[in-house]
Amino acid sequence: MLVSLAEYAAKHGKSGDTIRRYAENGHIHSAHKIGRNWVVEIDEPYPVSKRQTEESVTLVSLFSGCGGMDMGFRGDFDFLGKHYDKNGIDIIWANEINHDACTTYRKNLGDIIEGDINEVIGQLPEYADIVIGGFPCQDISINGKMAGINGKRSSLYTAIVEAVSKIRPKVFVAENVGSLMLKKHDESRRKILEDFSSLGYKIHYQVYHAEDYGVPQTRERVFIVGTRGDMPAFVPPPETTLFNPVTAKEALADLEDRPRDEAFSHIWSEAKVSGEQGNRKLVADRPGYTMRAECHGNIQFHYSLPRRISMREAARIQSFPDTFVFPTGLRATERQIGNAVPPVLAWHVAQSVLSVIKKEDRK
Ligand SMILES: C[S@@+](CC[C@H](N)C(=O)[O-])C[C@H]1O[C@@H](n2cnc3c(N)ncnc32)[C@H](O)[C@@H]1O
Repeated sequence: MLVSLAEYAAKHGKSGDTIRRYAENGHIHSAHKIGRNWVVEIDEPYPVSKRQTEESVTLVSLFSGCGGMDMGFRGDFDFLGKHYDKNGIDIIWANEINHDACTTYRKNLGDIIEGDINEVIGQLPEYADIVIGGFPCQDISINGKMAGINGKRSSLYTAIVEAVSKIRPKVFVAENVGSLMLKKHDESRRKILEDFSSLGYKIHYQVYHAEDYGVPQTRERVFIVGTRGDMPAFVPPPETTLFNPVTAKEALADLEDRPRDEAFSHIWSEAKVSGEQGNRKLVADRPGYTMRAECHGNIQFHYSLPRRISMREAARIQSFPDTFVFPTGLRATERQIGNAVPPVLAWHVAQSVLSVIKKEDRK
């Protein structure tokens, strides 16, 4: 079994140097580097710590953005007339580098540490039941440079590896764009999966289609879910709208006559139709197209009105509840919405994560 060197050292009240000597005298089999983390191999799993038996389910969130995925994991919101129950999850630590995204997060979800994950990773709590993170996707996205994990931003997935190796949560969820499954990214995907599974986690990964889970948008995302060696395996949530996706009109019709309203983020970009991008028009009886973070105002046009969709309409297409406030300007809001995991999709994934934890509690 592999554990992080820091965890191993803390358990034994020793320094990292002493641990290397442990390797020499045969107490541990080997010590090696995974991503930015040193891990050591031991014979027996550690006994489960006391904090893991406390009642509330605790969660650590990395790359939190404005909080789309966090909102879904927390639950207790309404979307298009349906209530998504509270999940009983406490978000005990969250981090994000972008100031505007942090402003939105604080307004809707609570405390967040603003700053570069590389600088604050030392402040992670000792334990949480769940670790989640949608690592930056520009280097994997087909709209980006496709540099894979060698790109500056997507290599940040190693921060999630480090958090999992330090915290050893019951379950972790790492999210990225659907194009992570492209042949072009075979090598990156293999490395990411290997780094996670070598921490002693059972890995489940697949593409999720947001429109199959009640989100009025065709959006493909990969979720890599790891369950700790001593936990039951993850079973993905069943689709809820497989053959009857929610359409753009169903999601937006009640806003058609609503005037511009800044407080409600019902504001839209005036960008003209441009050469290659941003000419798409929503089709009333189909789900919306994928919301993008870097569309520079070239967001899709309304299916019947002579304008681009508003930020509130974009938030609806991403399944944010109307009570979710965006206190930031148009472009910053557009980026936060485009970057987000649709809360409704995240809520369904959270249900499956919770059933792993509950199954374990019943043992
Ligand atoms: C794909 S988005 C995550 C969206 C989020 N999961 C949600 O559902 O709203 C990735 C986020 O990582 C943030 N980020 C990029 N580099 C970072 C770093 N070095 N430290 C912390 N956050 C970073 C970006 O600002 C962006 O908000």
